[in-house]
Amino acid sequence: MTRVWLAGARGMLGHALARELERRGVACVSTDRELDIADEAQVLAFARRERPSLMINAAAYTQVDLAETEREAAFRVNGLGAGVISRAALEIGAALAHVSTDYVFGGEGTTPYSETAATAPRGVYAQSKLEGEELVLETARAGGRPYVVRTSWLFGLHGANFVKTMVNLMRDRDEVRVVSDQHGRPTFTEDLAEALLALLGLGGETATEPGVYHFANAGETSWHGFAVAIREACLAQGLTLRAERVVAVTTAEFPRPAPRPAYSVLDTARIEAALGKPPRPWRTALEEYLRREFANRG
Ligand SMILES: NC(=O)c1ccc[n+]([C@@H]2O[C@H](COP(=O)([O-])OP(=O)(O)OC[C@H]3O[C@@H](n4cnc5c(N)ncnc54)[C@H](OP(=O)(O)O)[C@@H]3O)[C@@H](O)[C@H]2O)c1
Repeated sequence: MTRVWLAGARGMLGHALARELERRGVACVSTDRELDIADEAQVLAFARRERPSLMINAAAYTQVDLAETEREAAFRVNGLGAGVISRAALEIGAALAHVSTDYVFGGEGTTPYSETAATAPRGVYAQSKLEGEELVLETARAGGRPYVVRTSWLFGLHGANFVKTMVNLMRDRDEVRVVSDQHGRPTFTEDLAEALLALLGLGGETATEPGVYHFANAGETSWHGFAVAIREACLAQGLTLRAERVVAVTTAEFPRPAPRPAYSVLDTARIEAALGKPPRPWRTALEEYLRREFANRG
């Protein structure tokens, strides 16, 4: 019988995965901080005891800016931890889905990045995530079944994210200022969770070929374009906002500790072909998220 080990279950994506697994009636054992994914002895002991047939790693160090000064902590979880989890999966013969990021790309591109496009991570977080990818994929050479799924600009219930931050700022301020020279694809955690489980063959689908996949909601925008859409969707749903303007600024005007790619639009053709359907547009997913997150809260 299928039994899943979900690591990082209390994170933003972890919550969506746990819900989706429950909805599909899949047996699941969930862990988070209490089982440190970088602790090889603990991870191996747990894997040998629980014997899941599938593993999903949604645990990560995700503080992009803080990582610049916490290099060791970021690499410990995103590099070492990913390697430990994937070797445990290999040992017990479980397929592993590991989540990675659009930030592994440098951002100089002008057309969507395919899975085989050259990586050029620019900050510590991005570098640590790429190291994790490499360690996970190494297990394929030893007979493992690793899936590395890169995604971008996540928003979801349970956790801080750009949409929630924007809604709160727009409630407090007359105007918000948002960078317009970084482009990507917003992604709803619920849609990513569904795609991850489908890739693994849960819920009737046939398991797809292991390897690297990109998943993001359809359509691309800038953070500014995303913020404008958030304001419009909130107003359409009757939420009260104070902000009357979303002002476009440049990255140079808005310095942050970690560099971000100017263009990190993911090409999702491979997963679309594998799953037989395109992801829904990010605006539709955003509207659903807002309804669920802010319903009845004015
Ligand atoms: N958020 C985005 O916009 C975005 C974009 C692209 C890709 N991703 C990737 O998507 C995945 C999920 O992201 P997310 O936003 O859901 O992250 P998240 O909300 O930060 O969740 C990560 C979870 O992992 C836990 N964790 C941290 N270190 C751990 C360790 N050593 N052992 C076990 N658990 C540990 C965290 O606990 P604490 O909260 O206590 O640290 C948290 O519950 C990550 O791989 C991330 O790199 C995210």
